[in-house]
Amino acid sequence: MRLSDRISQVAPSATLAITSRAKQMQAAGIDVVNFGAGEPDFDTPAFIKEAAKKALDAGDTKYNAKSGPKLVAAIAAKLARENGITAGADQIIINFGGKHSLYCAFQVLLNPDDKVLIPAPYWVSYPEQVRLAGGQPVVLPAGPEAGFKITPRQVLDAARGAKILVLNSPSNPTGVTYTPEELTAIAQAVLKTDLIVFSDEIYEKLVYGDTKFVSFAALDKALPQRTITFNGLSKTYSMTGWRLGWAAGPKEVISAMKNLMSHETSDTVSFAQAGALEAYTSPASAEAVESMRREFQKRGQHMAARLNAIGGIRCVEPTGAFYCFPDVSAHFGKTLGGVKVAGSLDFAKAALESANVALVPGDAFGDDRCVRLSFATSTAIIDKGLDRLAKMLA
Ligand SMILES: Cc1ncc(COP(=O)(O)O)c(C=O)c1O
Repeated sequence: MRLSDRISQVAPSATLAITSRAKQMQAAGIDVVNFGAGEPDFDTPAFIKEAAKKALDAGDTKYNAKSGPKLVAAIAAKLARENGITAGADQIIINFGGKHSLYCAFQVLLNPDDKVLIPAPYWVSYPEQVRLAGGQPVVLPAGPEAGFKITPRQVLDAARGAKILVLNSPSNPTGVTYTPEELTAIAQAVLKTDLIVFSDEIYEKLVYGDTKFVSFAALDKALPQRTITFNGLSKTYSMTGWRLGWAAGPKEVISAMKNLMSHETSDTVSFAQAGALEAYTSPASAEAVESMRREFQKRGQHMAARLNAIGGIRCVEPTGAFYCFPDVSAHFGKTLGGVKVAGSLDFAKAALESANVALVPGDAFGDDRCVRLSFATSTAIIDKGLDRLAKMLA
């Protein structure tokens, strides 16, 4: 059957591809250490699950979730309290994950060939979602030598004729977080242009050491009218399977997204929204989130130190999210585990097939010198996987 031109130009998610190959090997009895996962390894906190169960028992099983308006109000309160962003109910939309929020936003803003500036390394779905909306991704390179951060100059140089700038701090895949000063400098550059900013803040709560998170829209009073803030429950509350995310921004954009969603999926899952409401309002949430954050911090520091102790690997210590993104290019040109390694895809292939370690090639994120390792796994597993990797590279 002939598929649409639209879908034919979209690459399948490389992250999902490596995870499914690793799962396939595991099902065949092979002991694979999986650093491919993009989700917390903790269970959803029990009090959140209880709220969803209660909603089910109370008959919250129809269209228009009973807790929907309360969840929107809780998100508005969270934005005011924690992020310095004022948003009314008509400026917030709840979607099936942050991924879906971003998808809807690109769909309602992009006309054919509109340009979207995407700093690289980038989360794999940004360019594909832009293409699906008919737009044109324009990459702003920010490799390891730049500390994985774009500069205000890059924004100014690329802004002409571009419509949207995507920012993601803390970042997937690099684990890097912009400082408030760096983000303010980018904001000042943005304000000299006509750019709309998509600020993907999904890893907001996962910051380490003395790293301070700030919301982009709060950095200048002129920013809320041109910024859409994306966030969700997946990473903060370990709720990836609940598929709940949201966006906050100018009324006309949110209203267009609601219009699109009304024909696409209608509302999100009723009882999942009840769980999300509990996550945003329960006094138990702060400690649940903090204990996961502390654990990620410990693992991230450990993984980066171990990676840097392996010859030919250079890794920036992550200040956020749960990924290390080391530069492994010093090993290119070698034969590893029988694979002649020319780039990150070969490196990941060698690691998986010969050391049974699953990691994601940086090529998928727009930087072929690096690979991504998730530290959303125990320290014992991190050690086991890195022992294997060190042995393969020795
Ligand atoms: C940078 C970034 N944005 C958005 C998402 C979307 O997450 P979800 O759709 O589970 O809310 C992810 C998940 O991997 C991500 O890494």
